Amino acid sequence: MTATEQASNGNLPDGTVAVVVVAAGLGERLGAGVPKAFVELGGQNLLELSEAIALSLEHPIWLVRVVPNNYTGERERSWENGEVVGQAVVAGGSTRQESVAAGLAVIPTGIDHVLIHDAARALTPSDVFARVLAALEAGAQAVVPALPVTDTIKQVELQGDREVVVDTPDRASLRAIQTPQGFKLETLRDLHANAVNADATDDAGLAEQAGVVVEVVEGSPDAFKVTTPQDLKYARYVLSTRGQTS
Ligand code: CTP
Ligand code: MG
Repeated sequence: MTATEQASNGNLPDGTVAVVVVAAGLGERLGAGVPKAFVELGGQNLLELSEAIALSLEHPIWLVRVVPNNYTGERERSWENGEVVGQAVVAGGSTRQESVAAGLAVIPTGIDHVLIHDAARALTPSDVFARVLAALEAGAQAVVPALPVTDTIKQVELQGDREVVVDTPDRASLRAIQTPQGFKLETLRDLHANAVNADATDDAGLAEQAGVVVEVVEGSPDAFKVTTPQDLKYARYVLSTRGQTS
């Protein structure tokens, strides 16, 4: 019997956490010729790097990889570290939200908490995962890691053919939001089932719309998202400073 079958039969260890790594995007802004999550950094692709960090949590993990349609042949992996009590590879959708929903659909019942992580945030330190999970275990329904904003952010609007500034929100109350975002599994399932739009850029957005309180914990500069070729260059640099080849 495989780990996946055992898990769906209800033999989950206490404290099992589901981790959904969304990796089904095309990576158009990166333009690497392959989907972004399959771009290599130091011998592992962004998806593999993301999974390895998730598995540093001191909890049994039920791991879901959400990949592009033509990557579902990805085999299940065996792991040197961490305890993977079940895993699944599923095809994503055309929006991030659809990809998350596809991942949620394969998580067995009997799990309390889920972490949703962007494969593109492949260098997220494990302490960010730990902080998000600790807040969930302390009773939060929804948790996001965040960093203060250092640039001045302005709201703009198109007036005729010119873009002009219309507002400057107070920077002190602004945060840049990262992943993993953590949820009570049942709460996130309900949010996705009742979502009005299909293209929220993060899961916490669905929670806010539904009036679910979203708690904030400290993120990390290293949890940045690889979006552009410049970000990938920077990611190679960060990885090299960790003593790995890039
Ligand atoms: N993602 C996904 N399914 C989608 C879109 C995005 O699983 N339909 C995932 C991406 O793989 C990524 C994360 O969501 O790990 C954040 O999305 P983004 O940075 O926008 O990645 P891409 O959509 O791949 O990039 P781009 O928008 O430049 O095409
Ligand atoms: Mg995208």
